[in-house]
Amino acid sequence: MKFFVDTADVSDIRALAETGLLDGVTTNPSLIAKSGRRLADVIAEICAITPGPVSAEVTATDRETMLREGQYLRSIAPNVAVKVPLTEAGLAVCRALAAEGTKVNVTLCFSATQALLAAKAGAAFISPFVGRLDDISQDGMALIADTVQIYRNYGFPTEVLVASVRHPMHVLAAAKLGAHIATLPPATLRALFRHPLTDRGLEAFLADWAKTGQSIL
Ligand code: G3P
Repeated sequence: MKFFVDTADVSDIRALAETGLLDGVTTNPSLIAKSGRRLADVIAEICAITPGPVSAEVTATDRETMLREGQYLRSIAPNVAVKVPLTEAGLAVCRALAAEGTKVNVTLCFSATQALLAAKAGAAFISPFVGRLDDISQDGMALIADTVQIYRNYGFPTEVLVASVRHPMHVLAAAKLGAHIATLPPATLRALFRHPLTDRGLEAFLADWAKTGQSIL
């Protein structure tokens, strides 16, 4: 399973990239707004940190402007994946950009039939939002299960990029279902590293080691 980080905070991205475990980055207009920076500047900087796909989202809603925005965004760096919303115009733009060799991430997916349409439109990634479905008492992970199954049934190459992830249990469930990617806020990605027994065990090992008076180097 690949891990992307869902942020436009460059210092967080740099620190996580240094672990060697970061496979890509996703942003959206809200995250760009939170960064307080110009979209093109922040996307260019992120693309220089990680060779993986970096999703940059269009903000137009009509087909023609959205296509021009997508063509501009992909010109920022070769690893930009253009993010479009799951609307009729968005899927038409997905089809057009994919035909030009651009990787497209179709976002704001809330049903498996939407996910099916995105795959037919040539999306490289589909982003089903599990947390926002859970928030309204629907089963976000059921959407992942249905999408993974449908894509397998027809051999679609579109990767399931689980988005709106709120906690490590979402990651566990998505991994068990065989989802290709999870995009996580930095704090959730860091939470995957931690276990209280790891901390306690390490503390005991180091205390015993100190008693030996040895050092490895
Ligand atoms: O980038 C899209 C998605 O991950 C947003 O998550 O937490 O705002 O629902 P959230």
